[in-house]
Amino acid sequence: MISKGGKELDKGQRRIGRMFDDISPTYDQLNHLLSMSVDVGWRRRALEELELREGDTVLDVATGTGDLAIAARSAYGCTVIGLDLSRGMMSEAMDKWERAFGDRYQVVQGDALAMPFIDGGADRAMVAFGIRNMPDIGAFLDEAWRVLGKGGRLAVLELSVPQNRLFRPVYLFYLGRVLPAIGGWRSGKKEAYRYLSESI
Ligand SMILES: C[S@@+](CC[C@H](N)C(=O)[O-])C[C@H]1O[C@@H](n2cnc3c(N)ncnc32)[C@H](O)[C@@H]1O
Repeated sequence: MISKGGKELDKGQRRIGRMFDDISPTYDQLNHLLSMSVDVGWRRRALEELELREGDTVLDVATGTGDLAIAARSAYGCTVIGLDLSRGMMSEAMDKWERAFGDRYQVVQGDALAMPFIDGGADRAMVAFGIRNMPDIGAFLDEAWRVLGKGGRLAVLELSVPQNRLFRPVYLFYLGRVLPAIGGWRSGKKEAYRYLSESI
């Protein structure tokens, strides 16, 4: 459990895995609608920060439906290995990867806090919109440090609440009301979309 201003957010891996399994069939469609596709540019920027080189081995932690992994392979031709708690999300990622490249996405089910990867085996690691679901961010950073080789880099892409006095209330209204309503209506899983808002 994580305490957030007196409110408890349950970040147990079983609950998180099940919740993403539930929304996996509609995740991509809603993600692009609700983010108005601004995430595409953010992903590109995160990959630039990683300074990827062709042939690098990159871990996409909390890979979800695989958008960041696919962008990395398309733009830089690197080898991507994915990790996620949710089988449903991984299955969507594998289908998309196969449609894009005609081969198999190497993805494993597991927890970012205890990754099933050897010490120092990866050149780069990345996590997009996943770190906020982790119950212990310090433990994740230690794990990332362990699996990265010498000179390795980690990119973290995550949402936050804007500080701008005019934009902040609009964003909070969108996050607290619009996102759970549309997400819940389209996916039938209002609780999951409420969790997504609260976790930001
Ligand atoms: C909001 S989705 C983001 C997916 C993807 N990275 C993207 O950019 O669209 C968050 C993903 O993190 C995964 N996840 C959450 N906690 C995790 C953990 N402790 N270990 C591995 N994956 C986790 C969820 O199953 C889900 O697929």
